[in-house]
Parts: sequence; structure tokens; C-alpha cells
Amino acid sequence: MKKVLVTRPMPEAVVTALSGAARVAVRDDTGPMSRDEMIAALSRFDVILPTIGDVFTAEIFASAGEIRTRLLANFGVGYNHIDVTAARAHGVEVANTPGVLTDATADLALTLILTTARRAGEGERLLRAGGWQGWHPTQLLGQHVTGKRLGIVGMGRIGQAIARRCHFGFGMEVAYVNRSAKVLDFPARQVHSLTALAAEVDFLVVAVPGGAETRHLIGAEVFAAMKPTGIFINIARGDVVDEAALIAALEAGEIAGAGLDVYEREPDVPEALRAMENVTLLPHLGSATLETRTAMGLLAVDNIRAFLDGDPLITPV
Ligand code: DGY
Repeated sequence: MKKVLVTRPMPEAVVTALSGAARVAVRDDTGPMSRDEMIAALSRFDVILPTIGDVFTAEIFASAGEIRTRLLANFGVGYNHIDVTAARAHGVEVANTPGVLTDATADLALTLILTTARRAGEGERLLRAGGWQGWHPTQLLGQHVTGKRLGIVGMGRIGQAIARRCHFGFGMEVAYVNRSAKVLDFPARQVHSLTALAAEVDFLVVAVPGGAETRHLIGAEVFAAMKPTGIFINIARGDVVDEAALIAALEAGEIAGAGLDVYEREPDVPEALRAMENVTLLPHLGSATLETRTAMGLLAVDNIRAFLDGDPLITPV
């Protein structure tokens, strides 16, 4: 039987689904694999089911000696932690888990929009700290969300799911930037410059994949273009945003607030952000529902099973 390493504890159904098909080892550490662990795993396992944080660089593949692994079945749609070109060069295929986490991630984007605009985090902190003195007409006044303008950067599956929620649920006017034009089942206008989009919207939401091509796509220029009442949301990858430029824009009042689920150097979140009341900070919860994490795991397992049976991968990268 082939040997499979699952690099994090998983919802039970995932390991159960894999058990009949292979000899499964589950790493019981919830933290990222070390360089030594990744190198050792590549020589000991036929398949690895890694996730974000397990940074399989070209250097790791080059240092691994004789590589036994033939598949990295990533748990997650984003795979910017894996150097896919280097993996292929060493005969290792890569799969990911698109589709199954679209709704959960879009739901979380709405959580960030609403929490930030309506100052819900600030209100909860006030109440928990025992500081709420009772209702009054000018307390914690936030921004209205219904009917506002939404800008989506990256109209892929997740961008569309966010836009759909904002259009149908909140009557928002949607504009977007995307490399190609999209055929959409809701009204949305394509804009051809990121700064032009930033300048016209009330909420700017980033939903592009991570990786070298999108690193620091959102920087000082974009924040300078946004309205001073604008709110910036990131549910994509931390390094799509120049975090220092975001902090500077918030400190200067160039934008009104931000809702973030991802950070440049996770799990480090700059103290400057943690000190700001107008920023909602979540610990990378985009896909964090039991249903979604189970579906992600089961899709990774389906890829592994297909691979072990000699069939094409279901969702290859
Ligand atoms: C994803 O699927 O990309 C999530 O962000 C976890 O990696």
C-alpha cells in the first residue's frame, strides 16, 4: 500500500475516507512543517496532503535527494506556498481544492464588510470591557452598507460569490477589475484600472490568487486613490497587499478602515494594525466551517484516490 502523509489534524471524515486507500500517517502538530520535516517527508511518502504554511520551495525539492513523493494534494485552493514549477521538475504533481470553499470565503468577506462598516468589533470590545453605558443616538455610528458601491479586484469564483451577495443581498452597485472580461449572472461593470476602481467605490475587496504575479498588487497608489470613507477588505493572500502601505494609509486617514483575514507574515500581525479600532482582524478564517474544511479534505482525498488508481487528477494545478 502507498504511504500518505497528512500534514495537519483533519476533520475525522477526511482521514476515514483516506484510510481504506493507503497507509495514512497524520502529523499531529497544527503548525507548519519545518524544512527538515518537508525534506524527510519527500523521501518517505508517496503522497503528501499539505496545506498553507508548508512552504515547498525549489530549495526544498533540490535538497530532498531521492524524492519518493509523486503528488502534493494541497488542502486549499491557494497554492502559492508550493513552487509548482520546481515540484514538476522533480516529477511531483500538484492538486488543490477549488470550488468547495467559495461560499464560506465569500460569507467571510461579508462578515468583514459588515463588521468593519458597522463598527461591530469595536462595539463588542466596548461591551465586553464593561464600558457600555447604554444606547444613545450618536454612539458608534458606522457606515451604511446597503446600496453602496463595491469594487472587486479579481472576479474569479470567490470574487463573483462576494459580488453576488452584495448585489442581491445588499443592493450594491458592482464594478471590478479582472485580466479578462467575465460573463456574469448579475450586473457588474468592468473597469480597466485598479486606481480608477479604487477611486469610485466604497468597499474595495481583494479576491485574486496569491503568488509572484500579484505580490504587492495593492500598494500606496491604490490606497491614495480610495475615498477617505473607503473600506478595504482582503480575504485573498496577505502579500497581495503592501502591508506597510496599508498601515500608512490607515494612519494618515487616507481610508476609513480595513477588514483583513490574511497577512503578509502570518501569524504575525503588526502591532500597528492591532492597535487600530477601525480595523477588523480575523485569523485566516475564510474557509473555516466544519462543512467546508471537510469538503476540502474530501476533495484532496478524491485527488489522491484518483492518483493512486492511475486516473487523471480531479483538480490539478
Ligand atoms: C485556501 O484554500 O486558499 C485557504 O486560504 C487556506 O489555504
